[in-house]
Amino acid sequence: MPAANSSPESRAKAGDPYRITLLAGDGIGPEVTAQALAVLREALARTGGPLLEVREELVGGAAFDATGSPLPDATIAACLEADAVLLGAVGGPVWDTLAAELRPEAGLLALRKAMDLYANIRPVHCHPALVHASPLRPELVAGADFVVYRELGSGIYYGQPRRTEPLPHGGGERAVDTMSYTTAEVQRLARLGFAAAASGARGRRGLVTSIDKANVLDCSRLWRRVVSQLAVEEFPGVRLEHAYVDSAAMELVARPRHFDVIVTGNMFGDILSDLAACIAGSLGMLPSASLGGGGALYEPIHGSAPDIAGRDVANPLATILSAAMMCELSLDLPAAGAAIRAAVARALDEGFRTVDIAGHGEKGAAIQVVGTAAMGEAVRERLAE
Ligand code: IPM
Ligand code: MG
Repeated sequence: MPAANSSPESRAKAGDPYRITLLAGDGIGPEVTAQALAVLREALARTGGPLLEVREELVGGAAFDATGSPLPDATIAACLEADAVLLGAVGGPVWDTLAAELRPEAGLLALRKAMDLYANIRPVHCHPALVHASPLRPELVAGADFVVYRELGSGIYYGQPRRTEPLPHGGGERAVDTMSYTTAEVQRLARLGFAAAASGARGRRGLVTSIDKANVLDCSRLWRRVVSQLAVEEFPGVRLEHAYVDSAAMELVARPRHFDVIVTGNMFGDILSDLAACIAGSLGMLPSASLGGGGALYEPIHGSAPDIAGRDVANPLATILSAAMMCELSLDLPAAGAAIRAAVARALDEGFRTVDIAGHGEKGAAIQVVGTAAMGEAVRERLAE
């Protein structure tokens, strides 16, 4: 068998497919990943790339129901062996009462750990056709285009100790979480953010905004020192600014166009990237890539949306755009990634909308509100053009 990292051309020639592990997960996960996979297959077929070999495994609530664990060993193994992992979403109210370590979210966090995924890349872009879908004023969001580099493998999500304990004399309980960062953890995430800013690729403008809470937290003071030193030693051509997370949240809403590359910790990145979604029009528009030592995982930033699951109304574009990131970052197929992105843009330009991005002041007569499958089909059809 050819080496796992052989070029797309030699793979295609040898009939050696890309191995994708599909983790559809819960809620709308199966619907949106099905559309993303169909688009991915079509894009590869059109660019003459290798075929996909898709192995489906369980994660989250679906895995708990079937096996008693939100992250079965077979899933971990399949993810570590794959060229890339495509994930839908995890979670839902039926699993909310489970013990913390059995919750669907615990499965996702353990998978990030098992794959050593320390960098979560979340591009935020307001497509011109969607400026009216944003709850913010169109003139504010038009042209906004930045990328969040969220640290994914450490911080308060994983720090020890963490526990909940009873207080004596019926005094209620006490819960403890720990935020922790090391120099190396900050460096490896920030280095990726700086490299992106320096590359100029995909419209990057050479500005890094590092977001922390250095006026209060020791973790943030270390973060700031490490990022500043990295800038001086390795990226003298990149402009670096620091911002406190509270003021950065306001700036993101007030001046989204200011930002280029954001580097930030795990929890701040989680919060700010959902906030950033309203700049793109909807959570249903934002893709993500998680990179690290043990592979790469692609997922929309939205959750499992149990309230709309199974009704063919979820927006599949975040997952489809995640597949485009996979083409570029894991499969060495930038042309297929660009083709997918262009097809999404064309479908939006031509008026195709899922309900989450429909309306909001749009007057165009050509707007067509479609379901999950029809949106996927609209993108597939436009791959050809
Ligand atoms: C995300 C999600 C997850 C996170 C949850 C589901 C554990 O909100 O990927 O942004 O907090 O990281
Ligand atoms: Mg989140």
